[in-house]
Amino acid sequence: SSSSSSENDNDILSPLREAAHHLRTTDIPVAFPTETVYGLGADATRSAAVKGIYAAKGRPSDNPLIVHVCDLSMLRSLISSPSSSSSSSGQNQEEEKDPIPEIYHPLITRFWPGPLTILLPNPSPSLLAPEVTAGLPTFGCRMPASALARSLIKLANAPLAAPSANASTKPSPTAAQHVLDDLAGRIELILDGGSCSVGVESTVVDGLCSPPVVLRPGGVSLEEIRSVPGWEGVEKAYKDQAEVGSKTAPRAPGMKYKHYSPKARVVLYEVEGGRGEVPGADVREAVEAVGKKEVKSVAVIRTGRWPVAGGLRSQGLDGAAAAKDSGDMAEIGFVVREGQWLDEDDTTVLARLLEIDLGDDVKRVAHGLFAALRELDRRGADVIFVEGVSDGDDIAAAVMNRLRKAASDIRI
Ligand code: TXA
Ligand code: MG
Repeated sequence: SSSSSSENDNDILSPLREAAHHLRTTDIPVAFPTETVYGLGADATRSAAVKGIYAAKGRPSDNPLIVHVCDLSMLRSLISSPSSSSSSSGQNQEEEKDPIPEIYHPLITRFWPGPLTILLPNPSPSLLAPEVTAGLPTFGCRMPASALARSLIKLANAPLAAPSANASTKPSPTAAQHVLDDLAGRIELILDGGSCSVGVESTVVDGLCSPPVVLRPGGVSLEEIRSVPGWEGVEKAYKDQAEVGSKTAPRAPGMKYKHYSPKARVVLYEVEGGRGEVPGADVREAVEAVGKKEVKSVAVIRTGRWPVAGGLRSQGLDGAAAAKDSGDMAEIGFVVREGQWLDEDDTTVLARLLEIDLGDDVKRVAHGLFAALRELDRRGADVIFVEGVSDGDDIAAAVMNRLRKAASDIRI
């Protein structure tokens, strides 16, 4: 009957309704899934609610937040100043102009909903709480591909300001469990939508300047943006450590970048012209170079070229057995292998060995990267050797950007 089907609808929608209600009536943010990473959302029009985000994350409030909308009319309501819309009904016979800047139209058509954030002028007065923009004249906005995210925004009937739902400095969360690990006790509600399909954050672009620029590489690649009319000349306006630091000397250990960082020390091996050495023979050296007296657990993240266990002697690297205890990681799509690193005579255990193979498909690497870093932390890795990917104009740029920020040591 029709009444039972509407009860079913209620069952499916009730967590969403509860989350929307929470967003409207409290100042405690709600964590929700998007196709990139989990966001920590609050009504972007209410200052008290937006302040709740900074409090829960422990994030400095000078870092602006991305505003998430469910449709274009919600976006237009944020950028059309009240005065201009009233004058258009009067003597001005001109066709009503779309308040969304022309340059963004082809990008929006092609990539929204999806992992792309655009910068827009913030009108004065603005509907957005000042805490969203951190004093900037612009705000970042995106329409997420996740239907769950868009439904939540629609039900809350408000644009949602949302940074990634990790504790400040930690890798971004790509599963509900990651949010719980970081923010338990600080928030009251997490909408669980499973693992995030993209796994790295949105690409942030600024089309208000000429030439337009990419401020952060992400889920939409440079290659894809460049193929859109008006964006052929787009430039990179972000700096990677590979470009900042010396090309010849490894970056000094101890220069810790507080970003995307697990507790373990991350050593990243760049891939340049097919180089990128396997930390096999030189692993002892590498372990010494990270400056820890005692390394009890060594972890390796492979992305396609390093041989299994990077040439380390190992035992118990049984995928099936490891898969058994990797639990919710099955959804992210990798297994954690555990073994032992033995000395040359196969007698002494030098360290415990953990290994994750993310495979050579860069989209899969992006999908599993943050989860892999978190999982190795959870298992007590002291140092994580990561095999870099070729930094092209595809999603690899986003992967390498995050890894360079997470790494305390980069080897070229
Ligand atoms: O995929 C994503 O973008 C995720 C999900 C939750 O949507 N969100 C996210 O937010 O990554 P967050 O706060 O961790 O990163 C926001 C990025 C920062 O790099 C920030 O500096 C930039 O966007 N941003 C936001 N508003 C800006 C503005 N007005 N001007 C320049 N950069 C801005
Ligand atoms: Mg973030």
